[in-house]
Amino acid sequence: MPAPAAVLTGLGSWLPTKVLANHEIAARLDTSDEWIRTRTGIRERRVAGPGESTVDLAVGAGRKALASTDGGADVVVLATATPDQPCPASAPQVAARLGLGTAAAFDVNAVCSGFVYALATAAGFIAGGIAERVLVIGADTFTTLIDPEDRTTVPIFGDGAGAVVLRAGDADEPGAFGPFDLHSEGEHADLLWVEAGGSRRRLSDDPGDRFLAMQGTAVFRHACARMAESSRTVLERAGWMVGDVDRFVGHQANIRILQATAKQLGMPADAVVANIDRVGNTSAASIPLALDDARRDGTLAPGNRVLLSAFGAGLTWGSTVLRWPDLGQPS
Ligand code: COA
Repeated sequence: MPAPAAVLTGLGSWLPTKVLANHEIAARLDTSDEWIRTRTGIRERRVAGPGESTVDLAVGAGRKALASTDGGADVVVLATATPDQPCPASAPQVAARLGLGTAAAFDVNAVCSGFVYALATAAGFIAGGIAERVLVIGADTFTTLIDPEDRTTVPIFGDGAGAVVLRAGDADEPGAFGPFDLHSEGEHADLLWVEAGGSRRRLSDDPGDRFLAMQGTAVFRHACARMAESSRTVLERAGWMVGDVDRFVGHQANIRILQATAKQLGMPADAVVANIDRVGNTSAASIPLALDDARRDGTLAPGNRVLLSAFGAGLTWGSTVLRWPDLGQPS
C-alpha cells in the first residue's frame, strides 16, 4: 500500500492591522514611493504593533485554517525565524492557545523557505503514519529584525501569518502536496543574516548588532537562479511540463524576482500570483498568505495546477506542487 499523502483541507491567514505605506517610509528615510514600487513592487506592508508577537499572528491564522475544516490537528509545525523567545520554540504556545491539547508542536526555521520546509516535514509525518492531521503555519514578525534607519531593508519586509491544515489522503487526489525539492547553501549565510544574538557572536551594547544585514543584489541573483532550478526539478519529478502550470506561487520577496524566475522558466507572466504590493516580504508567511489571498479573489480555482517555490536566508530554497482542491467558500 502506498504511503499516505498530505492533502490540503484548510487554509487561513492573519495580518496585523497597522499599515505602513511607502510614503510614510519616504517621509523618514532617503527613499521614495516611486523607487520602492518600481524596484520591489511593494506599495504597503503590515507591521505588528507593540506587544503583538509571532505567536499572536500564528494563532490568528491557525484558528482560521482550523475553522475552515472539520477537526483539529495532532501536530503543529510552525515555520518562523522570529519566535516569541529564543528558547523555547513558539509552536507549543500556539497549540495551547488553539486548544489542541497535548498535540506535538515544534518550530522549523528555514527563514523565507520555512513554509515549504514545514510542508515537507508535515508530509513526512503523514507518510510515516506519525500524524493524521497537521497544522502548518508560516508566521513572522520580521520587522522586529529590521534597523529602522536602513533604507535598503525597511521597505521590503512586513509581518503576517498564513496556515494550512493537511490530512492523510491519496497522492492522486486534488490538494495532495508533492513531490518536494529542498536545498541549502550555508556558505552564503552572510548574504542575509542577523549576525549577533546567537551562540557565535553574543549580543553587545551596539543595537546595530541585532539587525538584519542584506546584500540585496547577490540575494536577488541567487533567488532567481535557485527558484528556477528547483521549480524545474520538482516539475520533472511530478511529470509536469512548464506549460502545465496554471499558477506560480513563489516567495513574495520582490515582484521582479517573481517575474524574472517565471521568465527563466518560460512561464507566462500572468501565471505569477502576487500579493506583495499589499504585504511586502513576510518571510515564512509569504506563500500561505499569497495562497489565501489568491483563493479569495478567484485567482486560484479548483483543478488549477499550482507550483510553489521559495527562497530565503540560509541560504535555503525549495519547491513543491499540488492540484488546487475545492476548499468551499472562504469565511
Ligand atoms: N531608496 C532609494 N534608493 C535605494 C534604496 C531605497 N530604498 N535602496 C537602495 N537604493 C540605492 C542603492 O544605494 C543604489 O545606489 P547606488 O547605485 O548609488 O549605489 C541603487 O539604489 C541601486 O541599488 P541596487 O541594490 O543595485 O538596487 P536593486 O535594483 O538591486 O534593488 C533591492 C535593491 C534590495 C530591492 C533588490 O536587490 C532586491 O530585492 N534584492 C533581494 C532582496 C530580498 O529578496 N531579500 C529577501 C530574500 S528572502
